[in-house]
Amino acid sequence: MGLVAFFLFCLVGLSSAEISSKIGINYGRLGNNLPSPRQTMAHIQAVKAGRVKLYDANPEMLRLLSGTKLQVSIMVSNREISGIASSQTAADEWVRNNVVPYYPDTMIRFLLVGNEVLSSLSDRDRQMWFDLVPAMHKIKISLKAQNISNIKIGTPLAMDVMRSTFPPSTGMFRSNVLNTVMIPLLQFLHETKSYFFLDVYPYFPWAANPAHISLDYALLKGRTRYIDPGNGLIYTNLLDQMLDSVTFAMTKLGFPDIRILISETGWPSAGDIEQPGANIQNSATYNRNLVHKITAKPPIGTPARPGIVIPTFLFALYNENQKGGPGTERNWGLLRPDGTPVYDIDLLGKRPLSDYVPLPMAKNNVPYRGKVWCVVARGANLLELRAALAFACRESNGTCDALAPRRECYEPVSLFWHASYAFSSYWARFRSRGATCYFNGLAQQTTKNPSRGFCKFPSVAV
Ligand SMILES: *[C@@H]1O[C@H](CO)[C@@H](O)[C@H](O)[C@H]1NC(C)=O
Ligand SMILES: *[C@@H]1O[C@H](CO)[C@@H](O)[C@H](O)[C@H]1NC(C)=O
Repeated sequence: MGLVAFFLFCLVGLSSAEISSKIGINYGRLGNNLPSPRQTMAHIQAVKAGRVKLYDANPEMLRLLSGTKLQVSIMVSNREISGIASSQTAADEWVRNNVVPYYPDTMIRFLLVGNEVLSSLSDRDRQMWFDLVPAMHKIKISLKAQNISNIKIGTPLAMDVMRSTFPPSTGMFRSNVLNTVMIPLLQFLHETKSYFFLDVYPYFPWAANPAHISLDYALLKGRTRYIDPGNGLIYTNLLDQMLDSVTFAMTKLGFPDIRILISETGWPSAGDIEQPGANIQNSATYNRNLVHKITAKPPIGTPARPGIVIPTFLFALYNENQKGGPGTERNWGLLRPDGTPVYDIDLLGKRPLSDYVPLPMAKNNVPYRGKVWCVVARGANLLELRAALAFACRESNGTCDALAPRRECYEPVSLFWHASYAFSSYWARFRSRGATCYFNGLAQQTTKNPSRGFCKFPSVAV
């Protein structure tokens, strides 16, 4: 890039008042053991977040945020999108109910329409893809009617909107959303000077390919280099690569100047047996290095956009025990549900890395190879367990045949034993179709073979 272009980028980056490198925090609430909104306010302030992103427009939280210096991001839920897209009245009403009562005392600065809308692949959700940008337009009109001009409208997208990300210069969006959604979306973001809100997790490509991607590179340690053969840009970490792949994809469509805002990033501090690298050491390392990079003065930016501020929201404030899917999903938090930190982190980025106390050793950076079983978790609730056993054995094509009276796994006749067998059997049978060893928290993985006598528990080989 020429020097002039570089200079322009810097000016754009620094001129607009609302852009700062304050680190934000995502306040997800998918847990049944989380602190109240009032306690949460104290936690957000204790971790010194500068912004908070909600996955809704929770009235109690928005009232509590009033009069604080925290910038706030609120969200229209996915299921509200189509209604708003088809009715200006519905959009006006949403803004009247969820913005007007709190604004401007609550510093709402971002209004996000939906969450990872383009990651939903079901036919029912496809209508939502096409309703997304029309809904954003209508919300914009509603804000304007209220004379509100300092709230940016966006929609967080995940990296699965990309068809190609590597090398970054080959960045391209998925063809099934390109013309119908991405181009109108980029047009909207460009016209409204908003951001491309990106949920970007170097953890996922690393965990899918730990033998070929350096962990240091994913953890922002800056000790390895990669040169993009397409343009000669030098990369020192996976995050920059991922961000720039989106920049190049936008540029190819004629939108070289839409800024990226990281709406979610982070690294899980725990996970399932077959999920490598999910540990406290890596989570702390990634998040601390990230904070240093994002808050650096002057701003660092990325190889394609040096010197640009990248507003960033960490994921997440709490570990959330009601998120489904693999174990990592429930372990993204900086805080445990009781409000204690999983590890120390200074979100202002002032504390040198050498200042922190040593972290626990990482024990799972090399993927586990072997058999895994799925058994009842400690402390499982008996009533729930009975229902889960019934679920795992219902229409599951013989997964529970061995539990029938006189069959090899019938005895001992206990709920724990039968449920453990059923969980292992169900998971082994349906894992390839996306089943996880979770069962709403009633199940956990083990590398210790639970089989006894003639009763052989099905296992998963990882
Ligand atoms: C917005 O501003 C215009 C012009 O200043 C004014 O007439 C109108 O009443 C305002 N609308 C609201 C909802 O405040
Ligand atoms: C059970 O097997 C039948 C026939 O092979 C299949 O159509 C059905 O989808 C299977 N059920 C489940 C829950 O996998």
